Amino acid sequence: TGHTTLDYGFVNTASTKSDITYIDGDQGILRYRGYPIEQLAKNSTYLEVAWLLIYGELPSASELASFDERIRRHTLLHEDLKRFFSSLPPTAHPMSVLSAATAALSTYYESESDPHNPEHVELNTVRMLAKLPVIAAYAHKKSIGQAFLYPDNSLGFVDNFLKLNFGVLSEIYEVNPVMTKALDLLLMLHADHEQNASTSTVRLVGSTGANQFASISAGIQALSGPLHGGANEAVLQMLGRIRDSGESVERFVERVKNKEEGVKLMGFGHRVYKNYDPRAKLVKEAADEVLEALGVSDPLLDLAKELEQIALQDDYFKERRLYPNVDFYTGVIYKAMGFPTRMFTVLFAIGRLPGWLAQWREAITDPQTKIGRPQQLYTGAAERNYPGIG
Ligand code: CMC
Repeated sequence: TGHTTLDYGFVNTASTKSDITYIDGDQGILRYRGYPIEQLAKNSTYLEVAWLLIYGELPSASELASFDERIRRHTLLHEDLKRFFSSLPPTAHPMSVLSAATAALSTYYESESDPHNPEHVELNTVRMLAKLPVIAAYAHKKSIGQAFLYPDNSLGFVDNFLKLNFGVLSEIYEVNPVMTKALDLLLMLHADHEQNASTSTVRLVGSTGANQFASISAGIQALSGPLHGGANEAVLQMLGRIRDSGESVERFVERVKNKEEGVKLMGFGHRVYKNYDPRAKLVKEAADEVLEALGVSDPLLDLAKELEQIALQDDYFKERRLYPNVDFYTGVIYKAMGFPTRMFTVLFAIGRLPGWLAQWREAITDPQTKIGRPQQLYTGAAERNYPGIG
């Protein structure tokens, strides 16, 4: 009131209080509802963590079983919505498809989408957890020109998702437990990250009274940018370009340091983490294990390691406290699983969905939430008289 502080990028301004996720960027700590990410990564599952984020406590075994069951029952998309995909070009980026189809979902549930009706909120929470992975898999299938499969509700969440992505109509799909475990872990590691750009977007859109589908659809768009979730795709493109150009890693790092137009070390740096990103540590360990278990050797993984080594010893990166973030090694794992590069950010979105839903619900039920409406400092022309155009 009366005085406005200018804070580009909200570097110093909290937009909300929150009980969900704790980060200490200097010490590399990440906790969901108080539980350290390392413990959850070792012992928990994505669905369990989804419940934890959304409802605040770990589920009992029976709560988890009925949550899983409810999600399985809601996986089907309306047949008309399936046809929505054919109206989009085959070159459509799967992130745009995911966001557009999520927005389109709301048209089927408009009469049950009141943000202040707890039953609607509950139902649409389950609907989104169930249907967005199906939409994501259809975006994948569409991009490679293959037929959509129906969800198989005898399968668990991650297996069902893998089958929808990699199963083909004429063959029986064999679930590979290595893939299941790895994907479950990666999804969980992405599940929440306090007030990042996409989560802030979800909360901001939600603060206007818009429904969950609208808010999450906007969050997906915010995530798509290369400085945010889009970085996992950009990392693989960067590694591929270095390999194909035959340029040495040292030379590439020089170009990054010289701030050549558009050249950044993608997958490095974070607004909050200034020593290391605890997720990146877990992902790096998983990358070695998964590639070995899948029997894949990828020169891009070696290239990534070389790049990391060189950057970590370099003053430019040391002075700026730039370390690998979660996106640096995920792409190599997704690639080994068989996902095309353009699906990587979609996988991030499916991972982040429980966090978005939890944060949206927290905002909606917080009596202090108001419509988000940043101030500005006006720097344009002073009042002047309209002269007419001549
Ligand atoms: N490569 C080269 N230089 C960098 C990088 C990088 N990846 N990241 C930061 N810098 C430099 C930046 O140029 C600046 O240098 P100077 O002080 O000389 O101007 C300094 O480090 C501080 O960076 P900043 O841009 O002010 O930091 P920020 O907090 O605004 O940005 C970031 C954080 C993540 C957007 C940025 O580090 C970046 O663009 N990284 C690459 C993209 C990326 O990997 N994003 C994924 C983030 S983690 C996943 C998620 O989104 O949740």
